Amino acid sequence: MRPQPDFIHEFVPGKSERTLLLLHGTGGNERDLIPLGHELDPNAALLSPRGKVLENRMPRFFRRLAEGVFDLEDLKNRTHELADFVAAAAKHYKIDIKHIIAVGYSNGANIAASLLLLRPEILSAAILFRAMVPLIPETEPDLDSVRVWIGAGSNDPIVPASETKELAELLRGAGANVTIRFFQAGHDLTQQDVEAARKWLKG
Ligand code: MLT
Repeated sequence: MRPQPDFIHEFVPGKSERTLLLLHGTGGNERDLIPLGHELDPNAALLSPRGKVLENRMPRFFRRLAEGVFDLEDLKNRTHELADFVAAAAKHYKIDIKHIIAVGYSNGANIAASLLLLRPEILSAAILFRAMVPLIPETEPDLDSVRVWIGAGSNDPIVPASETKELAELLRGAGANVTIRFFQAGHDLTQQDVEAARKWLKG
């Protein structure tokens, strides 16, 4: 029996109470971030779903109208669908729902941020690589006990620095403890990002 509601996914059991929810970028799949998950925390369980939306056959987690312009109705529905999947998977795999940390890259970071804003009960922390402001929620979530690390590229052609800062402020305004780091990089993930996120996760 697979967890319901369903996503194609990989699950790797861990040796600690922590689970990393791995959320790939546009064109990725459920296998992409498994090595990254092991690198960030070799003892954590890994839950890695594949986004259900196809854009020119490239999987994503929600629809967009253009680069950086999101279909907000779809984003909201997909965020709730993903949150329900994580809750069902937690029961199914006997994951501790209080220790789920999202690790998202690009489109995956954007839906992770949307999870924080719309379904804050699902995540205890989040690592967001190259994230944007996904939406402004109608009601402010309670992120008081949530830690967030944001890794941005100072030459990112997709995410301007002002948007990264706006996201940090939005999350801080809801009570999250946010760490923001800028790297000499573009939209691609770098080893410096991974190293800094790994240290933050340990601390
Ligand atoms: C998005 O659609 O989430 C952003 O534009 C990032 C991406 O290119 O996937």
